[in-house]
Amino acid sequence: MRPLFRRLLRVSNRSIFAFIFFFSLSSSCLYFVYVAPGIANTYLFMVQAQGIMLRDNVRTIGHMLRQYTNKNSTLNGTDYPDGTNSTDFTAQSTMYLPENFTISPHLPCPEKLPFMRGSTDINMSEITLEEIHQQFSDLGIGPGGHWKPTDCTPRWKVALLIPFRNRHEHLPIFFRHLIPMLQRQRLEFSFYVIEQAGTQTFNRAMLFNVGFKEAMKDRNWDCVIFHDVDHIPESDRNYYGCGEMPRHFATKLDKYMYILPYNEFFGGVSGLTVEQFRKINGFPNAFWGWGGEDDDLWNRVHYAGFNVSRPDGDLGKYKSIPHHHRGEVQFLGRYKLLRYSKERQYLDGLNNLIYAPNIIIDKLYKNITVNLVPELAPVKDY
Ligand SMILES: *[C@@H]1O[C@H](CO)[C@@H](O)[C@H](O)[C@H]1NC(C)=O
Ligand SMILES: *[C@@H]1O[C@H](CO)[C@@H](O)[C@H](O)[C@H]1NC(C)=O
Ligand SMILES: *[C@@H]1O[C@H](CO)[C@@H](O)[C@H](O)[C@H]1NC(C)=O
Ligand SMILES: *[C@@H]1O[C@H](CO)[C@@H](O)[C@H](O)[C@H]1NC(C)=O
Ligand SMILES: *[C@@H]1O[C@H](CO)[C@@H](O)[C@H](O)[C@H]1NC(C)=O
Ligand SMILES: *[C@@H]1O[C@H](CO)[C@@H](O)[C@H](O)[C@H]1NC(C)=O
Ligand SMILES: *[C@@H]1O[C@H](CO)[C@@H](O)[C@H](O)[C@H]1NC(C)=O
Repeated sequence: MRPLFRRLLRVSNRSIFAFIFFFSLSSSCLYFVYVAPGIANTYLFMVQAQGIMLRDNVRTIGHMLRQYTNKNSTLNGTDYPDGTNSTDFTAQSTMYLPENFTISPHLPCPEKLPFMRGSTDINMSEITLEEIHQQFSDLGIGPGGHWKPTDCTPRWKVALLIPFRNRHEHLPIFFRHLIPMLQRQRLEFSFYVIEQAGTQTFNRAMLFNVGFKEAMKDRNWDCVIFHDVDHIPESDRNYYGCGEMPRHFATKLDKYMYILPYNEFFGGVSGLTVEQFRKINGFPNAFWGWGGEDDDLWNRVHYAGFNVSRPDGDLGKYKSIPHHHRGEVQFLGRYKLLRYSKERQYLDGLNNLIYAPNIIIDKLYKNITVNLVPELAPVKDY
């Protein structure tokens, strides 16, 4: 009797565990999808990334084996066959100007200066804005975080737009890295932090449109960078100027295991000339919550006849500042909207947006606070 009883008990125990296991699995799945989409998406990308890395490794091993059998060279631990080296930083260094190059106030600043050394030290420890401002106090940064090189004529006048909500601890870390980098790149710049007030879900794209319109009232910017506050570039050779084509800067994120998640990925950090941004009618205003607006921008750019350019190799590496908060709510309607990208492009964007901002000029940035609701960007039927 006893063994049978025990066996029965074990079975029922097991099914209870199974039930609890599947229940927690399904509820945590739902939790992931609806509540913490950032984490869920990161997780999905990591799974995908691992698949790709596995494939790459298999390819590399195959390559090594072929080398070994073809050339019968001896492979020591440190002695990798050609092609496996990440040579992006070293390969580029030859094209940078020599140390003794002198720049002139009357000539345009070169894009590849000797003091742009490639990978930069990243310090994620928290600090106050006041401390950052003190650290940079002798560097000639004006109100609103405006700076302009004096030893050469800046090639680009860059407005950096940063959509913002509840990430106060990120801002100083962001400035700590971005200010020195942009100064080394000899760009003229200002920062615009566009903060969403009110209770609506986050609308990154609409904040960018507001920031663009406000920035254009200040100065004749010619290049606009759309920058998430938690993305820190790892190389100061990732040049924040614009170009013939809209540019995607954040190609390799540490949170996606340093691979481009998909070819059409246009998130994190991107940059367009003012002309290009006007031509595509800006960002869409209809994306409330996390995700989709960057894919729509990709579509807009291509419908307007542009391609997207990207930095070479490892220059597009970024580190993410760890979050205190959970992610924003995922926008589940984005796939439907993305199907109508083309129809919506000239109905929704810069041209149908009305808003009333509250502006404060801070020492390191212009604070544009705006309460967003869908009624601010009415769209006619299409
Ligand atoms: C491969 O190894 C053999 C014996 O060690 C040697 O005779 C031959 O020259 C090597 N082949 C090449 C291509 O190096
Ligand atoms: C690899 O090992 C072989 C034999 O031990 C040695 O002759 C060769 O110098 C090593 N190569 C390198 C790059 O250290
Ligand atoms: C690979 O990297 C090492 C160390 O950075 C360097 O010494 C070597 O020349 C590189 N090899 C190639 C093929 O670029
Ligand atoms: C300065 O630049 C010239 C030409 O590029 C080069 O020949 C010379 O060696 C450099 N001098 C120093 C001290 O690096
Ligand atoms: C990082 O920043 C903190 C706060 O400013 C500072 O105390 C620390 O020394 C920095 N670490 C490095 C490695 O620079
Ligand atoms: C964009 O890329 C495609 C494919 O590479 C090419 O055919 C097209 O001419 C490019 N468009 C522009 C405007 O450069
Ligand atoms: C921006 O200004 C608003 C007041 O209009 C303030 O509540 C908010 O904390 C400021 N945000 C930042 C990032 O400075």
